[in-house]
Amino acid sequence: MNNFIKRINPKWLLILAVAFIFSSCDQDEGTSMPSVSNAEYDDTPYQLDIGNFPEPDLPPDNPLTVEGVKLGKMLFFEPRLSNGDGQACADCHNQGNGFSDTLRFSLGVRDLPGTRQAMGIFNMAWNTNGFFWDGRAELLRHQAILPIQDSLEMDETIDNVIAKLSVDPLYTDQFIRAFGDDKITEDRMGLAMEQFMLSIVSHDSKYDKWVAGEVQLSESEERGRQLYFTEFNPFFPDQSGADCEHCHGGINFENDAYMNNGLDVDVDISDLGRELVTNNSNDRGKFKVPSLRNIALTPPYMHDGRFQTLEEVIDHYNEGIKMSETIDPALIQTIEPGLLLDDQKKEDLKNFLLTLTDEVFLQNPEYKSPF
Ligand code: HEC
Ligand code: HEC
Repeated sequence: MNNFIKRINPKWLLILAVAFIFSSCDQDEGTSMPSVSNAEYDDTPYQLDIGNFPEPDLPPDNPLTVEGVKLGKMLFFEPRLSNGDGQACADCHNQGNGFSDTLRFSLGVRDLPGTRQAMGIFNMAWNTNGFFWDGRAELLRHQAILPIQDSLEMDETIDNVIAKLSVDPLYTDQFIRAFGDDKITEDRMGLAMEQFMLSIVSHDSKYDKWVAGEVQLSESEERGRQLYFTEFNPFFPDQSGADCEHCHGGINFENDAYMNNGLDVDVDISDLGRELVTNNSNDRGKFKVPSLRNIALTPPYMHDGRFQTLEEVIDHYNEGIKMSETIDPALIQTIEPGLLLDDQKKEDLKNFLLTLTDEVFLQNPEYKSPF
């Protein structure tokens, strides 16, 4: 096709272009005629809305531009990234659920379930220590390419995706605007999706408004907040805190680390987690400490979605922690006699977790499908 174009006399191209303009009132989208694009490269920076968060360390070699973020969003909502054109990233990462999936195991294009629960995608700009439950993708640009080729997810080849998108002026034009020419490559798709995912920010929960002094917490939420942020004291367990902040801390309610939070005894650890990446048995059964922002909307919980509700999660930490070789030491001291949270305290803790829901982010039109 390219050689064919090169061999055409430029005069003919002009005639073709004129003919195309005159015939364009037919709106024949399926035309195979090479159209002359008037798209232009545009590197206007994308203004990340970070609220009161600290400036993130964005990748210096992939500055966010308005057109790059837009291209990434198109790809994120594009079912042609999948085999059979039936599934987009957004089908498993649904905005209304904090860009997560409420199925325990998401179904891929072949209707086969994976083995882990889909993760929420927001505040990735502050995530500096790998992606996926086991952190096997170091950068978002690498992460973004993997689900396309995963046989349990989109099950497509990059070559096929490129072939499908290269014949659509919607994409060739957008690649020009984002990258300067219409060449669609794996690298560029990764960079564009990285830009879009970095642009997804959640900073407007009730808790954030409370931090900014704009609203008050209810008495129960405030008691829950104190439980959340107060250390556990094994000598006075019934009067001390639940110390969730120990791991789910900082502005994003996570610590960028991989840890074992006592889900199983050693023989029951079937998913090795971080060990699969590091080959180090000290990492057995360790998983990424996830953000607890928007947690009410991202059930089920844990890497394998074993808990359906926040009540079950709280019961786990209160009285269900299992001992294993790699369990985090902070949790060992809570095994006996447990956190000793009574029903009221459990309710308070849950009510605090509910203040982390960010309706603005869940509705934000910036993150909605561009189609
Ligand atoms: C079939 C459902 C499904 C599809 C389709 C899918 N994902 Fe995911 N996604 C998941 C699951 C499940 C995980 C966790 C997998 C793991 O840890 O092994 C995940 C994890 C992620 C993460 C890691 C987040 C973090 O905090 O580390 C990102 C980012 C992500 N997906 C982006 C994408 C993008 C981009 C696409 C489209 C190219 C996509 N996903 C398509 C199910 C899906
Ligand atoms: C020692 C570190 C640690 C402490 C302390 C801790 N967590 Fe976790 N939490 C984790 C890890 C690691 C995971 C992911 C585990 C997995 O999926 O295998 C997790 C997962 C969760 C999840 C599921 C998130 C999701 O997206 O599926 C919730 C909810 C949660 N924790 C709430 C709490 C609460 C509430 C407390 C305090 C009572 C707490 N955590 C204390 C490390 C910790």
